[in-house]
Amino acid sequence: MQFTAHNILLNNGKKTLGDDHILFSDSAVWTSIKSTIDLFLPGSREERNKLRSVDLGCLEGAYTAELAKLGFDSLGIEAREDNIAKCNYVKENLNLPNLHFAQDDVRNVANYGKFDVTLCYGLLYHLNDPVDFLKRIGDNTNKLLLLNTHFAPERDIRYRLGFLNKYVIGPIQKRTHFLEYQKNYRLSALTKNEGFRGRWFKEWSPNQDRAKIEKSLWASYNNNRSFWLCKKDLTQALHDAGFNHVFEQFNYTGDIFPDNYTQHYNRTMFVALKQ
Ligand SMILES: C[S@@+](CC[C@H](N)C(=O)[O-])C[C@H]1O[C@@H](n2cnc3c(N)ncnc32)[C@H](O)[C@@H]1O
Repeated sequence: MQFTAHNILLNNGKKTLGDDHILFSDSAVWTSIKSTIDLFLPGSREERNKLRSVDLGCLEGAYTAELAKLGFDSLGIEAREDNIAKCNYVKENLNLPNLHFAQDDVRNVANYGKFDVTLCYGLLYHLNDPVDFLKRIGDNTNKLLLLNTHFAPERDIRYRLGFLNKYVIGPIQKRTHFLEYQKNYRLSALTKNEGFRGRWFKEWSPNQDRAKIEKSLWASYNNNRSFWLCKKDLTQALHDAGFNHVFEQFNYTGDIFPDNYTQHYNRTMFVALKQ
């Protein structure tokens, strides 16, 4: 079984990505999540046994497994066949009865009941209806949402150049990084979707073969383009979804990412709280 991103230590001593990679449980990404949960939902393992967590777009299941180890009744939702097979392999090789996975579109999260902690990592920017989805999360989350996502820059001249950026500047910057002060994601011009500002990102062609989409293990699933909200619009959408406190957390970049990660990659970790 070929894992692509999550290095998980199994009960038999084997690691899903092998010895050359840092274990997910030791990564700054995970320790930043753990310390944030400790801050806002302190409690023993026994107390956490009564709480539920959900990991949306869980890929190979590392985050879901770590949440189960903290004591939460932990569910990971993932659309792709290959990814969910890896999640189930992880479950079989960890002795965690409170670890569960479901193969589904994350938009159906309401079918799984309410959760105390919602984890939405690397997923929101793969949806074409992020504001509606944040509302669904808000309706379904009792306390804490941890959201790691790209956002769209409000100003970037390159995204007003259409085909010139898509077929000339973008590919050149991808190869050479020439004058690439911010990563060139070949986004659309600034526009509105669901009443909020942002930019479109093309995931795959609308007439793409379904089998190929299934094998694009990290991509969007039921929409061929996704909408990246501007940061201000995203924080407003989080407030509108019922989270009255919205913070930004920077620990996740740890020492494995460059200092200017958030600015260069237009990506951050939000902590949204109902209090
Ligand atoms: C970029 S990966 C991020 C995975 C993981 N959360 C992480 O941060 O390592 C996006 C994941 O979301 C899944 N995904 C994308 N759209 C989905 C949808 N509508 N419903 C369920 N899963 C989806 C993909 O299959 C993939 O596993």
